[in-house]
Amino acid sequence: MSDTHEAPDNSRRSFLALTAAAPAALALGGAASAQTLEAGPDTLPGAGRAAVVTGSSRGIGAATAKRLARDGYAVTVNCLTSTDLAAAVVRDIEAAGGRAIWLQADVADPAAVKALFDANDEAFGGVDVVISNAGIMNVAPFAQFEDAAFDRMIATNIKGSFNVLREAARRTRDGGRIVTLASTSIKAKRATHGGYAATKAAQEIYAGVLSKELAGRRISVNALAPGPTNTRLLDVPPPLRAQAAQMTPYGRIGEPEDIANSIAALCAGDGEWINGQLVFANGGFL
Ligand SMILES: NC(=O)c1ccc[n+]([C@@H]2O[C@H](COP(=O)([O-])OP(=O)(O)OC[C@H]3O[C@@H](n4cnc5c(N)ncnc54)[C@H](OP(=O)(O)O)[C@@H]3O)[C@@H](O)[C@H]2O)c1
Repeated sequence: MSDTHEAPDNSRRSFLALTAAAPAALALGGAASAQTLEAGPDTLPGAGRAAVVTGSSRGIGAATAKRLARDGYAVTVNCLTSTDLAAAVVRDIEAAGGRAIWLQADVADPAAVKALFDANDEAFGGVDVVISNAGIMNVAPFAQFEDAAFDRMIATNIKGSFNVLREAARRTRDGGRIVTLASTSIKAKRATHGGYAATKAAQEIYAGVLSKELAGRRISVNALAPGPTNTRLLDVPPPLRAQAAQMTPYGRIGEPEDIANSIAALCAGDGEWINGQLVFANGGFL
């Protein structure tokens, strides 16, 4: 399994054509057919805007950084340790004509998160979209769960996301979007997922509360809950993957691009009215 994935049909030319002709279909990753109008970069939804995507060296975050860059956003990419992958994401964005920087920062460390946003502001002049995506999944039955594994998950998923959302609350410009990554595990309540699902349930609370705190500024804040998605985090044997695929009407698990497209839809101008919600993006898995 690869850590980073190229979205299908990612040529800049066909993207620009689609943007001009069918923004709604594009925001949802719709069919790339029969649209021929050309448009300039200024018509892109992210033109003149910047996005910070935490945990974007691989998986869902990398796909989201690339998708937002294709939507015209300047993007700040972030990693914990995979500096080579983060740099590669930036190279891919630049090769496609976009703008991006990357910074290593542990979201669990408030000072590092502040430095991440400082770097973004210095490079791009401010932030309009914040995707609190960095997360880890440690699973075990209650009886066997080890303190260190549990504590690290709390530090990354609950405190880390809080650190990111706090900085987002301070800096996101009016009309912006904030998305934090929850999980369908909140609904599934699978054995061994107790600690992980609890950290992801917190994201629904964060989004609901922050959406109200930012009232009057046209900043929509949502928690997006993916289902099983083909990334390194989904560390399960092939039979379990096949089982998950069978539980989805599409007959497959999600790809990072499926989630990136859903995030882009929330960030699009038309997504404004979806605010303070927990939104499931799982292909009908549950
Ligand atoms: N995959 C799924 O099935 C699934 C389902 C539901 C929800 N989600 C959620 O979606 C989000 C992304 O998951 P994914 O599947 O894309 O995971 P992934 O492939 O394991 O990628 C995780 C990313 O987060 C970064 N990261 C981890 N800890 C960090 C920290 N303390 N500070 C900064 N960055 C950190 C990693 O950086 P390094 O590369 O440097 O380690 C990496 O870029 C997570 O919040 C996860 O809970 C995933």
